[in-house]
Amino acid sequence: MSSPPPTPPPTSPTRIGGHYPGASSPSPKVGGTEGGNASGFKVDNPMPHILCEGNNAQPLDIIGATATDKLVLIMVGLPATGKTHTSKRIQRFLEFFHDIPCQIFNVGEYRRKICGINMPASFYDNDNKEGKRQRAEACDVALADLVNYMGLAGVRVGILDATNSTRERREYVKKVIREKKLGVKVMCIESICNDEELLAENIRTVKLNTPDYKDQPPELAMLDFLQRRENYKKHYESVTDLDGPHVIIHDCKKFIINRIRGYLPLKVVHFVMNLHTLPRTFFFTRHGQSEYNTRGKIGGDSGLSPNGMEYARRLGKWAKERVCVVDGKEVPARLWTSTLRRTKETAQFIDHPTIEAKFDDGFQHDWIQMRPMARRNLDELYAGSCDGMTYKEIEDVFPEEFKARQSDKLAYRYPRGESYMDVILRLEPLAHEMERTREPIMIIGHQGILRILYAYFMGLKREDAPYVSIPLNHVLKLNPHAYGCKEERTCLLSKMEMVADGQDEPITSMPVKANMKRVGSKNRIEELLREGGKGQGGEIGASPSWGPDDPVMNAPSC
Ligand code: F6P
Repeated sequence: MSSPPPTPPPTSPTRIGGHYPGASSPSPKVGGTEGGNASGFKVDNPMPHILCEGNNAQPLDIIGATATDKLVLIMVGLPATGKTHTSKRIQRFLEFFHDIPCQIFNVGEYRRKICGINMPASFYDNDNKEGKRQRAEACDVALADLVNYMGLAGVRVGILDATNSTRERREYVKKVIREKKLGVKVMCIESICNDEELLAENIRTVKLNTPDYKDQPPELAMLDFLQRRENYKKHYESVTDLDGPHVIIHDCKKFIINRIRGYLPLKVVHFVMNLHTLPRTFFFTRHGQSEYNTRGKIGGDSGLSPNGMEYARRLGKWAKERVCVVDGKEVPARLWTSTLRRTKETAQFIDHPTIEAKFDDGFQHDWIQMRPMARRNLDELYAGSCDGMTYKEIEDVFPEEFKARQSDKLAYRYPRGESYMDVILRLEPLAHEMERTREPIMIIGHQGILRILYAYFMGLKREDAPYVSIPLNHVLKLNPHAYGCKEERTCLLSKMEMVADGQDEPITSMPVKANMKRVGSKNRIEELLREGGKGQGGEIGASPSWGPDDPVMNAPSC
């Protein structure tokens, strides 16, 4: 670090439009006539457009402001049709990408609390008067909580996750909501699953793992669950025009969209249409070590170092054996990179044979295995005027900027560059694509980008995302499912094997953040009630769940 720190050029490229009100030294002068660029051009702009959000503008606020409705989603469907999975994905998507508070009221959980677990299938038969009464009670308590929640200031979306299998029931729910005069929109989302295989998979992976079937032999549990479903079927009434605005999803394939109006309802519909609840796998890896990594510089567009090339070679072999083959069978798989050199070079040893594949849209055609797709929204967080500097240089040249980033890493926007908030915004369409895609996807990306995608799927708070550890030379395998996301990390190139040709990578300004909590959506209502309904914000609870040795926030390099 002995070379003199670079001075940023006054005309460095801008990716985000508008002025940067919070910038200190490296920002352009705002509102004066004295600013000039390298060619001597004087800017005469006495009435500059200044972004209204203030310092370190948070673009998601702009989006949030357009969605002023409150919305209740009434889930409808027989047991095991993916209602809970869909509810959880909607909640996650709205909260993480749009900062829209959203709470699920799962009647099954209320039922277990009120009536206990291990209730036999006969309990769910409408001819069983006592069972019917107790189930109605559970639904009423959940509904009362939902209504209470929707009345709070700042909350936006409530989801009633239950079978809601008769029109009478749905009418009742709507009546209760209407009578409270909360001014909320209501929409039904019905999930129909006639695909035997999908159903069996749903039952095996989700239902038989609920407390209802704790300690029961799987075969008996399966029979009981199928009987429970039959009991619901006897009285089941599908959603019709009489139910008002609704979406009907058939086997994650066919959709009926009826009378949906408004920003938020359409946002939900768009998301739901991209969603499927089948098992899937994502593989995340950063590019191999880059030349800039070895020099401690951030950003740039350098190629791979010798260590990086070695990682790329190993990744090529690993992808062939582990991404493209499932249970000994070759499966169609996808490969996404950013548009930057270091990710493309990391992908260079991955093979692209043509295979014949059958898809669930009924088509059978040739598939180019792992055909590389370079996506601009996977490019690394752009450090603007600081691009190509080391953290030390940033601290020396722009101490104010350095400090500002330390104090709010999520919202901090580099002068003429991006913030993590900006990155969240540009990754939203990508998240839709990831939700939609059924084949395994390998993403060769960058630290900042993968932190956001990882945090989204792993259920972390946005504030925690900029601190997630995504070490070089590792592949992170994620399997999202109805109740969370399973993760496996594999190291393909250990530190011991790396040639010492500089530093491993820039030593980040803030590698660890302690005292953070995973998103506890169950606690969300309590949190909001505690805040007196004043809306969002505030740390949940006091107990730290990330310590300095936490494997997510501070995963050791191998
Ligand atoms: O250091 C590698 C890198 O990908 C940089 O290019 C990027 O600026 C940085 O990581 C993002 O990490 P942080 O947000 O912790 O600075």
